[in-house]
This record gives sequence, structure tokens and C-alpha cells, in this order.
Amino acid sequence: MQVSVDAKENSEGTIILPLWQDSNEMPENGGFGIHQSLSGQINCILAAGDFKAKSGSSMTLAGTDGGKALLIGLGKSDDSNSNSMREAGAKVVATRKKIHGSTLTVCFNGLDDGQMASFMEGMILRDYSYDNYKSKDDDDDEKDDSELSVRVICEDGKSAALSAAVNHSTAVATGVHFARDLGNAPPNDLYPMEYAKQAVEFGKSHDNVEVKIIDYDEACSLGMGGLVGVGMGSFRKPCMVIFEINGDKPGPSPCIVGKGITFDTGGISIKPSASMDEMKYDMHGSATTFGVMKALVATGWTERVIGVACMAENMPSSNAQRPGDVIKTYSGKTVEVLNTDAEGRLVLADGLWYAGTNLNPSYIIDLATLTGAIVIALGHEATGMWSNDDDLLANIKAAGEHCDEIAWPMPLFKAFEKEIKDSNIADTRNLGAGRWGGSNTAAAFLKQFVPNQGDSDNQIPWAHLDIAGTAWGAKTNKLVKNGATGIHVRTLHHLITGQ
Ligand code: BES
Ligand code: MN
Ligand code: ZN
Repeated sequence: MQVSVDAKENSEGTIILPLWQDSNEMPENGGFGIHQSLSGQINCILAAGDFKAKSGSSMTLAGTDGGKALLIGLGKSDDSNSNSMREAGAKVVATRKKIHGSTLTVCFNGLDDGQMASFMEGMILRDYSYDNYKSKDDDDDEKDDSELSVRVICEDGKSAALSAAVNHSTAVATGVHFARDLGNAPPNDLYPMEYAKQAVEFGKSHDNVEVKIIDYDEACSLGMGGLVGVGMGSFRKPCMVIFEINGDKPGPSPCIVGKGITFDTGGISIKPSASMDEMKYDMHGSATTFGVMKALVATGWTERVIGVACMAENMPSSNAQRPGDVIKTYSGKTVEVLNTDAEGRLVLADGLWYAGTNLNPSYIIDLATLTGAIVIALGHEATGMWSNDDDLLANIKAAGEHCDEIAWPMPLFKAFEKEIKDSNIADTRNLGAGRWGGSNTAAAFLKQFVPNQGDSDNQIPWAHLDIAGTAWGAKTNKLVKNGATGIHVRTLHHLITGQ
């Protein structure tokens, strides 16, 4: 989407007219150079109450000699917030068909800076589809794949701020859309070393980005038994990918760790076949990690930030790990593997320990499609969040609310830790005693692999985000048509930069 912002310019293409509920005429001074016969028709419709501009509503006008228009309902201004404005903007892209063309002029009037910025952010974020594997179909009357060209008109004096906001949203959206691309990519083409290859290319194309790959052989020699145990059953071998942005700046720095299972069959504890295809999304934690890095570079962030992606494919094979195996993780702790389908925590155990002991983090946030149980608990409406640090938890919660990517607090009770440590033959096990509270025992497992800060007895501030319900599949997410969501790229960009 190409966007340009002007104060009072002539309109072009289809008019997009966002209207507050029960507007009974076009906004005053809202001529925008719209053809008289079109504005006359719009005023007739509004005066007759035929378009009430309720939140979520839209109406297309075509067939006048004055061009076309798409009316967008904003609901009542008293009820509006940044989320309702983003959704209204998203509605433009969701509704747009061939009939509207690919040149649009958004005519704002009577909206404040924040409302206009959110509306544009919604348009920009919703403007995404994953067509890499589709052959072109020029006969489709409904669909229009051409890039959108959007002109935005607002009141005098508001255009500079709006233009800056649009540029910022466009930059952050490159990270969101890239994370969605990674999530949506089919697992035959996106495997651990392919992710690593893309990361290396990203590093090469930016002077302030360093990317380091720990490949299978190095992971073996470093003693990363979690990553190796999960990944060794696949012909596509596992790896760890380390991103560093602005490494010349002093740390300690924020660190994002992502679960990157490019396909999760369950391994020898194999999953049932229904919806198994969705396990291509099991690398969304690593997709978000990469997406955050891209967003930070695109918005020109100049402080140091680190990312770690724990990449593996969980396959059954003659070389796969078995239920009953005991592995030694990078931390030195041993784990009794009681279920090979609880693999995310094993790769993260090594990623967390590596991040904490080698990368000088100020805090560590891991993201993982870790448990089906969090989808039972929170549905698709929120990410589950555990933390050993109240301030970090409060800051992530606030950043999530700001972006409407809700992260909901969950407990780290001692009882969960006790339950998951209860192995007869190893330091810990990878499976709770029963199915109850499965997301909490998973979080308690991870907590054991967060190192202490320096020589102190205090752990590094850490938060775990279980995104199994939010990485895909939310019918209520109006910013996403289908597929991977790019969840928390915006949250983490906002948390890290304050912007
Ligand atoms: N990737 C899955 C979790 C998952 C399942 C995410 C369904 C989204 C939808 C994870 O690796 C897994 O298999 N977890 C098991 C853990 C269990 C064996 C303790 C689960 O949730 O069933
Ligand atoms: Mn699994
Ligand atoms: Zn998994």
C-alpha cells in the first residue's frame, strides 16, 4: 500500500468516507473536491437515515457520474477508541473489491490526530494476503491483487502529524507482515536452516544487524541437548539463530526468544491427524522474533536489542528421541522426556539459557505456541503471560493493551514447579503429572532455565508468552483475514521503543 497525506487536495479514485454514527450530512468543509452529484447522493442517503454509520458498517456507492464512494461507519464518537478506529480502517481493505479500484482517497473530517492515525494503521495492517503459491487468476471479478494507492486528505494543520504516524505504522507493519509470511509459509519450504538463511540475508543487508547461526554440529558440541533431542529425528536439522541489532551500543538489552518448530508432528508421541497441518504455525514464536527485529530496523531504532530463535522440526524417525529418553540441556540440567510432543519447552530451555548466559539481556521475553491448554483457558482472545518480575509483567500488559494484542497474566505457583520437577531419574521432566493446568506446568518448566543475574541469587527478569491461541485462528481479529497473525510484533516494538 502506497500512502500519501495531504491537507485539502483533490480526490482521486474511490472516495473513502469515515463517518460518525447518525451523521445526517457530509461533514462541513468536507468538499474534498468530490463531484457534486456524488456528494449530493451521499447527503441524500445520510439525510434519509439510510446509512447510520454504526460501527462495523459500510456502504458502497457507484453508478453516479461523479465517481464512487465507500462509506465507513465509525460508531458513536464517545464509544470510539484506538481499537475501534483500527477496525474501521481495516474494514476498508476487507470490503474493497474490484469495483472500488486500487486508487482510494480517504477523506477525514472531525477526527483527532490519534483517531486518524489508528484508522490508517488498521488499513495498513489489514492490507495483507499470502499469495506466494497461487497462480494468477485474471478472470476473478471480485478480487483485485494490484497494490493499493491511497491518498489521505485531512484538515489543515493535521497533515504533518498524520503523515508521520502513517510512516511509523508502515514501518512497523513490515515486521508484522513479514512475521505473517514466515508463519504462513508451508513447512516443506520453511525448515530450520531456511529460516537461518533468511536471517543471514537480513543481517547482510543492514550494517547494524548481526546474525549468528549455531548449526546442528555446533549445537551438538555445545551440549544443547534440548534443541538436538527435538530436532535430530528430522532430515532437516535444527539450529539456533541469534540476532543482534546495534551491537556497538552497550547492553544490557531487551532479548526476545522464540519457539521455532517449523512442523510439530508430536514426534514418536505422534499427534492425531485432524488439523495437524496447523502445526506449521508452531514456529510463530520465532516468526514474531524475526518480525520484531525487522520492525525495529524499519523504524530506525538505535539501541541494542537481541533475538534468539530455537529452530527444529519435530519428526518421528529411527533417529528421533523417544519417550523415556533422558537428555542433558545446555544448562547442564537433565530432563526426562516423557512425551516427545512437549518439545517446545525443550528447545526453549536451551534458548533461554543461551540468551541469559551469553547475550547480556536486561530482560528476556519468550514467545511460544507452547500448549493446547492455553487455548482451552483463554480461547483465541488473549495470550497467556507468566513472569518472575512484576514490573516486566505490567509493562508487557500495558504494551499489549496499547496495541490490542492482549497478554493475560497467569500464575507461576510453586506447586506447578514441584509437579514438573518430579522425575525419578532426572533433574526434571517435560510433562506434568496430569493434564490439569498444562500451560502452567509448561511455564514452570521454562522458569528452571532462566539463569540468575550475574553472581546474584536473582533470576534475570523474564516473561513467557504462550501464543498458541493468538498466533492463528481468531475469527474476532479484524486486522487479519486468515492464517498467521504476526501476534506481538507491535506489542514488543512498542514495549522496546515506547513508540
Ligand atoms: N505445539 C503444541 C501446542 C499446540 C497445540 C499449539 C495445539 C496450538 C494448538 C505443543 O508442542 C504441544 O504439542 N503441546 C502439548 C503438550 C503436552 C504433550 C504436555 C499439548 O498442548 O497437548
Ligand atoms: Mn508438540
Ligand atoms: Zn509444538
